[in-house]
Amino acid sequence: MKTQFLQPSTIELNARALQNNIRFLKRVAGEYVKVSSVIKGNAYGHGISSFLPIAEKAGMDHFSVFSANEALIAIRHKRNRDTRIMIMGMVRDEELEWAIENGVEFYVFEESRLQTASRVAKKMDKKALIHLQIETGMNRTGFEEENWEKTFKKVKTDQNCLSLEGICTHYAGAESAANYFRIVNQDKQFQKARGLAEKIFGEKQISHASSSAAFLTLPDKHYDMVRIGIAQYGFWPSRETFIHYIKSENLEEGYDPLQRVLTWKSEIMSIKKVKSGEFIGYGNVYLAGHNMTIATVPIGYTHGFGRNLTNTGYVLVNGKRCGVVGLVNMNMITINISHLGNVKKGDEVVLIGKQGNDEITIASFGEMTNNLNYEVLTRLPGSIPRICVGCG
Ligand SMILES: Cc1ncc(COP(=O)(O)O)c(C=O)c1O
Repeated sequence: MKTQFLQPSTIELNARALQNNIRFLKRVAGEYVKVSSVIKGNAYGHGISSFLPIAEKAGMDHFSVFSANEALIAIRHKRNRDTRIMIMGMVRDEELEWAIENGVEFYVFEESRLQTASRVAKKMDKKALIHLQIETGMNRTGFEEENWEKTFKKVKTDQNCLSLEGICTHYAGAESAANYFRIVNQDKQFQKARGLAEKIFGEKQISHASSSAAFLTLPDKHYDMVRIGIAQYGFWPSRETFIHYIKSENLEEGYDPLQRVLTWKSEIMSIKKVKSGEFIGYGNVYLAGHNMTIATVPIGYTHGFGRNLTNTGYVLVNGKRCGVVGLVNMNMITINISHLGNVKKGDEVVLIGKQGNDEITIASFGEMTNNLNYEVLTRLPGSIPRICVGCG
């Protein structure tokens, strides 16, 4: 028998919360707009291999990843034959053959990738499923305007080995109204490219541009597909986006149509008393100002609980907030449980998520550490086990 031990912490994925979010997103998208589930960054820390089958069950059939190695994980864990995977970023020339063979869609944003995709597909006698990315003002990746015509014509000529699945772009910061005019200008460029493509191909091409923020605040820019990351996990791209949406829909203040999917949990490892005047942990970072009861929790910066939460972070025990006292160590934190009565070794500790009537939100975790939700989530190590709750 193989010996196995539990990890010091686990990440729970709430299937019902995800179903709620997907229902909401699909309702906003309407009947004619496809929602692609963005699962790059290890599904924003939720874990591609655990998250994808739950999302498929909740009705998703199109997933967007960043790179070929993420696409491989997605291909291995998808359950439905018809589920599509799209790579929005990195594919090495030597990975193209695998992508074409497995029907993986991929972005093409430069001539060399277009040429290689066409050549490899011709050799394999199988069509490459491509999305042409248009440079509209983000200035990251995408075909510049002077190359649009040449590119569209090349795709048309090579139609026997290239299948144009979409024309796309990405807005540079729709989560802030301060970027509004930049987005409007990007959209004008995108429409220009779409117009040219229609002229060359003789018909409209499937188009996509919006991620969560543009999707939730700019309904006239949904086109045929939207690529939704952060919102499906239950988070708003920014406070501004949330307020904009609630106000534009005349919803009650405080109402949130999204539910967090992820809860990160650990347990009490040991408990001890510390006398007034003693320092706790390394150095002189925390001085006990009175007699205290502290507990150790077996998570630290190696698990994604940042050192900058030293003396400032909170966790939940018995539904109550307990402050981190002293330095966040590599594998451990110490927390103050002096105000709690009945804590025992093995009791549940919530690091992110709900317990009782309280919640440690990623936003507060993020604000505490000056990080965005995106960064806190994607830094959660892949080695923490992901467990589905409500998958039944
Ligand atoms: C090209 C592209 N599309 C969609 C998304 C999803 O963004 P969000 O998580 O804000 O929905 C991203 C994420 O950064 C992206 O880079």
